[in-house]
Amino acid sequence: MRKLKRLAAIHPMLAACLLVVFLEIAWAVVDDVPAAPASPVPAASPADIPVRALDQSEYVGAKKCAECHQSHQEGWANTAHARMIRVPVVDGPHATVVADFKQPSEHRHFEIKDVKWVVGSRWKQRFIGEVDGMEVVFPAQWSVRDKKWMPYTGKSDWWYEQHKDWKTRSNFQLCAGCHSTGVNDQTKTWTELNISCESCHGPGKAHSAIPKPDNIVNPARLTTERSMDICLSCHQAGKPPNTTYAWPVGYQPGMELSKFWTGFKPEEGRQTAEFWHNGTAHKNRVQGNTFLQSVMLRHDIQCTNCHDMHSGTYTAMTIKPAASNALCYTCHGPKKDAGPADATLADHTHHGEFSKGSSCIECHMTKTGENAVTNEARNHTFDFISPASTIANGDPNSCNTCHADKTPEWALDFVKKWWPKSEK
Ligand code: HEC
Ligand code: HEC
Ligand code: HEC
Ligand code: HEC
Ligand code: HEC
Ligand code: HEC
Ligand code: HEC
Ligand code: HEC
Repeated sequence: MRKLKRLAAIHPMLAACLLVVFLEIAWAVVDDVPAAPASPVPAASPADIPVRALDQSEYVGAKKCAECHQSHQEGWANTAHARMIRVPVVDGPHATVVADFKQPSEHRHFEIKDVKWVVGSRWKQRFIGEVDGMEVVFPAQWSVRDKKWMPYTGKSDWWYEQHKDWKTRSNFQLCAGCHSTGVNDQTKTWTELNISCESCHGPGKAHSAIPKPDNIVNPARLTTERSMDICLSCHQAGKPPNTTYAWPVGYQPGMELSKFWTGFKPEEGRQTAEFWHNGTAHKNRVQGNTFLQSVMLRHDIQCTNCHDMHSGTYTAMTIKPAASNALCYTCHGPKKDAGPADATLADHTHHGEFSKGSSCIECHMTKTGENAVTNEARNHTFDFISPASTIANGDPNSCNTCHADKTPEWALDFVKKWWPKSEK
């Protein structure tokens, strides 16, 4: 450390980079390096910074950050956040168009030559082009799972009434703030396409000139609520209080999101665009809305306990693979405080140890949400959803999404027998 300080006097940038490397190695092998503060106090209090127009000159872009944080940049570049919105490339190793423009469809009235940007690639792909000089979203989308064109009506969005005519669906008004970085709604420009470093860490010009922990937002040093706000600014269905924009204009990482955005909440016993009757996910992009209901949040678990924003190694950027139960086993298991209390996995699930029916996420993160088509998006309340819910309201449940050939009554009998104490 002392050597680094001396080096800093001579060559601050080099020392800064070495310090990062040093800290990373030190964290891996020894315990007595200064740990993150026990109670997560924000290094800076960006929440206190008054709202002002976004100043794009304060942004430097991922390339600049990579000069000193190369491994973070390489990991991030391999995530979905880095490939959300791209120029259309039809063929070759860098193809971005997943949709088949040769497939005829009554829903599609545009050709690939009309497309300026392609949006998304995992579940569905939408397309942006220009009409009278304005970037607008075309009214047809491609379902990746079903490999077919579908209408994109916008009917499930709260802004539908104001934008029944698709030619009024401006990218900058309705989409860009959640798919790009440093978006200025007035000038209709961005500093970077995609969800880049500064979407989550705030503008980084000052930090890049003189790297200090207190001139950049580190979510790990924020309170759970302020840290989650960053993810919720895009992953929570909702509405801004006073604008007709569909994204939280003016919000910056570290600020209090509720000043810019009101997340939708489930209404007891009612089905809405976002939720089933029981509050579980009815569509995609409600991870925030549903996780806010979970028991885990009350135990201070947050998005980043399961998701790593700088690694695309596993499906959905999880820190460990989820399909093998490894992710959940980080904190759960027979001998762990967080439960389940049963002696073995099979005792808990009533399926064989290696059965698909013993996969934590299939019962506790059931695919209840519609993305392009139904049953694609995983519910984030983490509740087991009883077949009783299907019998009462027709909501999908955690048994019949797999046992599709059986009735919910069939499943409920086993649930009552297997989990007699369960109230569900
Ligand atoms: C010139 C090198 C350099 C550049 C460019 C740079 N950083 Fe850093 N960064 C550092 C150093 C050095 C530290 C450690 C600072 C310390 O602990 O004193 C750091 C720390 C951080 C931290 C952790 C802060 C904390 O709470 O400990 C984050 C987050 C971060 N940088 C993000 C970024 C982002 C995002 C960018 C681009 C916008 C960026 N950095 C650009 C050198 C740099
Ligand atoms: C989608 C949000 C998001 C994006 C995009 C993102 N980060 Fe982070 N970053 C985080 C979060 C959250 C943490 C805190 C992780 C934790 O809780 O341990 C973090 C932590 C860091 C740290 C501190 C060291 C560490 O790993 O804990 C550095 C440095 C960093 N990020 C750099 C970058 C750089 C450089 C980029 C762009 C190439 C980037 N980040 C993109 C969310 C993001
Ligand atoms: C600026 C908006 C924005 C922010 C902030 C943001 N995300 Fe995202 N996130 C998106 C978008 C858009 C996608 C879809 C990307 C795609 O499909 O290419 C996405 C996708 C994801 C995915 C799915 C990736 C996959 O491989 O399918 C996860 C997981 C995720 N985000 C977690 C987080 C977490 C955790 C945070 C907070 C630390 C966060 N995001 C912050 C906009 C954002
Ligand atoms: C409030 C933030 C927000 C707004 C506004 C928003 N999106 Fe997204 N979008 C997201 C997030 C977050 C995801 C990824 C999470 C998910 O799908 O569950 C996503 C996912 C998508 C996907 C699927 C990506 C994939 O890889 O399959 C497409 C396509 C998409 N959005 C297009 C649009 C279009 C077009 C608009 C404007 C009409 C729009 N979005 C408005 C945040 C937003
Ligand atoms: C970082 C630690 C951590 C990880 C990873 C984690 N959990 Fe949890 N989980 C907890 C804690 C802590 C509790 C609260 C336990 C208690 O009640 O004392 C909890 C509670 C739960 C509960 C009980 C909810 C209730 O209603 O009582 C379920 C179900 C659950 N987790 C499912 C999962 C699943 C599925 C995964 C993997 C996708 C997972 N957890 C991953 C820490 C974690
Ligand atoms: C076949 C479905 C199924 C699978 C697979 C499953 N669970 Fe459960 N789990 C349940 C049911 C049902 C309950 C009781 C729910 C209730 O009472 O609301 C439950 C309850 C829990 C609880 C609450 C505490 C307790 O002991 O009741 C935790 C924690 C939990 N499960 C974690 C896990 C983890 C971790 C995995 C994967 C290793 C897993 N579950 C796999 C169905 C399942
Ligand atoms: C306890 C662990 C855990 C927590 C906490 C958690 N997730 Fe997830 N998330 C997962 C798992 C597991 C998957 C599915 C991974 C897979 O398919 O292999 C997932 C999937 C996703 C996806 C991809 C969409 C889908 O339906 O598969 C997004 C986006 C996402 N999470 C965002 C978030 C956000 C935002 C938060 C916080 C509000 C959050 N997650 C909290 C475990 C978690
Ligand atoms: C992810 C898929 C999956 C989920 C979720 C699931 N199962 Fe199964 N289930 C299976 C498979 C596969 C088998 C075949 C035997 C085995 O592999 O254990 C099975 C076997 C069974 C059997 C015995 C064979 C039969 O068909 O009579 C019953 C009963 C059963 N499951 C009930 C349930 C109930 C009740 C739930 C909800 C609590 C449930 N399963 C959730 C996949 C699943």
